Amino acid sequence: MPDFETFELRGVTLRKDPARDECFQCVDFDAEMHEYPDLSDVSRRERIHRHMNNEIGGLDIAAQCLADFPEAPWELRMQLARQCYDETRHIMLLHRRLREMGGHKGEFPVSNFEWRVTCMQDSLPARLALQNRTFEAGQMDILGKIIDAWREAGDERTAEMLEGILADEIQHVRFANQWIKKYAQEDPRTLMKIAMAVRYLQNVTNALGPKAGEVNAVGTTLQNAEDRVVSVVNVEDRRMAEFTEEEIDEVLRRTTFRSLVRENGARN
Ligand SMILES: [Fe+2]
Ligand SMILES: [Fe+2]
Repeated sequence: MPDFETFELRGVTLRKDPARDECFQCVDFDAEMHEYPDLSDVSRRERIHRHMNNEIGGLDIAAQCLADFPEAPWELRMQLARQCYDETRHIMLLHRRLREMGGHKGEFPVSNFEWRVTCMQDSLPARLALQNRTFEAGQMDILGKIIDAWREAGDERTAEMLEGILADEIQHVRFANQWIKKYAQEDPRTLMKIAMAVRYLQNVTNALGPKAGEVNAVGTTLQNAEDRVVSVVNVEDRRMAEFTEEEIDEVLRRTTFRSLVRENGARN
């Protein structure tokens, strides 16, 4: 894998941001974002703008995986290439909707958190575990809830667009799950890589996530980091030196990865 540039933020090491158009202001913390709790006009534009940037990140991450892991199986590389195509369509759909709402790219600050964390990983299964299986699965949960809210607010057009995106995201999570299982069956050290990646994400989230009661740039009170990253909350007390086989199983069992351990049979 080629070398890449990193930087330090509150004691954790992250990958430097990918290139972005100059119109975008890339920020480090949730408190700098312009997230609103309601569905006012400005909140709608900010939600679509933030989602659009997350999709740009999804494209960047999948494309970087193709570049960094040329030895990966051809079928997996094809899935990643298809994901690039899907994320590109999502970006275009969201950008069009944003403009229909009177917004424009660069209108709100954006965060490249998922890129910074995922692209630190030096193995493809670990990147799939973070980006597809954790972040995109988390996005699936959010979309599942928010689509109804858009519809109830009378915005059928946005609700339908998000339903189309959600259908693609399910496939992105599914192929990642399938390949993670395959990698883990062929080489149990894969689980070590994934457990380390999950623990790293937990450390980063603890260091950078908002504290309960913190208020963002537009006056919204933020949830604390643990409430936001429920799926990895129990990994925080693990220490690198303790990661024996049994302890990896324990870490994975406590996260959304427990089904992976169970399906591996011999580990239970
Ligand atoms: Fe997407
Ligand atoms: Fe996706």
